[in-house]
Amino acid sequence: MASSVLSPFKPVQVASAPKPQKEARLRTLYARLGELKQTRNAVILAHLYERLDVQNIADHVGDSLGLSRQAAQTSADVILFCGVHFMAETAKLLSPDKKVFLGNANAGCPMADMITRQQLIAFKAQHPGVPVVAYVNTSAEVKAESDVCCTSANATGVVRALCQQHGVDRVLFVPDKNLGNYVQSQCPDIELINWDGFCPTHMRMHLEDVEALKKQYPQAMILAHPECNDDIKAVADVIGSTTVIRQTAMASDKRVFIVCTEDGVRARLAQDCPDKLFFTPTQACAVCPNMKLTRLENMIATLEHLPEADEIVIPDAIAEPARQTLALMMAIDS
Ligand code: 13P
Ligand code: SF4
Repeated sequence: MASSVLSPFKPVQVASAPKPQKEARLRTLYARLGELKQTRNAVILAHLYERLDVQNIADHVGDSLGLSRQAAQTSADVILFCGVHFMAETAKLLSPDKKVFLGNANAGCPMADMITRQQLIAFKAQHPGVPVVAYVNTSAEVKAESDVCCTSANATGVVRALCQQHGVDRVLFVPDKNLGNYVQSQCPDIELINWDGFCPTHMRMHLEDVEALKKQYPQAMILAHPECNDDIKAVADVIGSTTVIRQTAMASDKRVFIVCTEDGVRARLAQDCPDKLFFTPTQACAVCPNMKLTRLENMIATLEHLPEADEIVIPDAIAEPARQTLALMMAIDS
């Protein structure tokens, strides 16, 4: 049943046992992280796209929405966010009194960088009076210029609620045109004016690779993230956030899944469901290099030194309006 040409991934049926040295090294690193978590009163949050060894030591693993909720609720003094910059900023906005650090301070999101505050101001000026929905994959500065925030898990409901609140049937949607197109397909009565942004990782996945896998495994269920290109979403059985993808595959009676999102989700599913087969369209295209920057050693170094220069800081003038967009999202989503 193994795929060779179609997907360079060997389907992982049973997580292969780490070599003894690897196991010993992991034990040492996990032990050190455990000590540091206690001394710093730190909580570790990890996105499902992170490396498995990072996910496996985290206190909470999830999608952007779930992790935002965890960040808002934590009683820890320090949040170590294993994800990318906008996620750590979101955690800081929701927990302003905590110290927030990224697992690796260099981890950014190219999609979030596709729109700046100045660009959004100019976009709004072209469409006066049209409210703005900002995907959570944006900087705090962009959120501060927006009316409400959304994640891949709640975008459709947020767009609908915002239109009702403002009594309008048009919104500006930034920055992901693929998520925007998906919401548009769910809300034909609303016009979404999309920014031309995209996720380079999801854009590298191609329909031909999905179709080739489906041909080889006709019984496979296709699960797609809304950041995928529209042609992939058109053939998907389920479209949803990383958590929806994970929960659907875990609950399903199916045995084979084509997972059209970043490889961390496939890896996690292969670990959690050793009796099922999981493929991504192709290995090379399914990896987000930024999400893979965080290593256990980075996390240890950050918790050891709490480097001032790396602490997430958001000026009040930006933080206040940005926080309101998250608060409105949470209120709509509750
Ligand atoms: P979700 O986990 O919210 O589905 O987000 C995916 C993503 O692209 C995060 O960068
Ligand atoms: Fe950004 Fe895409 Fe990477 Fe998510 S997967 S962090 S959207 S580049």
